[in-house]
Amino acid sequence: MRHLIQTTDLDNSEVLNILDLAKGFKTSHSESLKNKRFITIFFENSTRTLSSFEIAIKNLKGDVIRLDIASSSTSKGETIADTAANLDAMNPHAIIVRHKSAGATNFLKDYVKCPIVNGGDGAHAHPTQALLDLFTIQNHFGGIDKLRGKKIAIVGDIKNSRVANSDMELLTRFGMDITLVAPPHFLTNTNFKYSYNLEDVIDKVDVLMSLRTQTERHNLQTYGSLKDYAHRFCITKDLVGDRDIILLHPGPVHRNIDIDDEMLEDKRCKVLEQVENGVLVRMAVMQFLCA
Ligand code: NCD
Repeated sequence: MRHLIQTTDLDNSEVLNILDLAKGFKTSHSESLKNKRFITIFFENSTRTLSSFEIAIKNLKGDVIRLDIASSSTSKGETIADTAANLDAMNPHAIIVRHKSAGATNFLKDYVKCPIVNGGDGAHAHPTQALLDLFTIQNHFGGIDKLRGKKIAIVGDIKNSRVANSDMELLTRFGMDITLVAPPHFLTNTNFKYSYNLEDVIDKVDVLMSLRTQTERHNLQTYGSLKDYAHRFCITKDLVGDRDIILLHPGPVHRNIDIDDEMLEDKRCKVLEQVENGVLVRMAVMQFLCA
């Protein structure tokens, strides 16, 4: 039995296997999860990831039950370990969890007999987002072997972003050259190249990945205002010009703070393609872990 807590749970050949499966789901159907039941428990809000997992499971003819956190017994004081152990006693084929605490999914795997799939834990990891980002980028460049040496700038609240963490691990493994771009208070001590200035990197990159400011993870507000931040770090049409660059963002996008209206409309912007690919990649992940 396998869990998916972070990208390092998969070796390169397993990642490639998942990307191949995802590609296959563009054109072929499968009922590989028929007669299997899955539970989603999202302790943190989600639009894309939750519905993407649930649609992915249904596409493969699996059944999915969503635990409504507001009406669950966690709000009556039950620990998350007990919640998970009780749901596990109903014999699901996997439980997909999102939680605000980094490490929550790793902790829960010791209380269940089924795979735990991490739908995002605090600022730690979001493995399926990294897989769908890798899938989207390699589709654009025409294959995984084309990624070596391609330059990507990850822009925004790196310090608090589980997406950045997972992308940094997975994209470097396939040869991408990463520069982190953020104001100093949104960076951690890092071995990656970094810059405080988007204009310094814009001529050197093939891919821009913008991230949302994770205000819910800030104990103290560490910047003047989102408008001040946007002034220096928003990906605008003026900044990108006619450069041969693609733009990604995991969503939810803060419009005109992370990316301006014009760039969101631009065909180089892959945000909705990422969402579409997310379903294919999660079908692949669920089949890989559970079929
Ligand atoms: C992200 C998340 O929740 O980690 N979104 C997503 O899952 N697609 C990013 C974010 O919240 O900013």
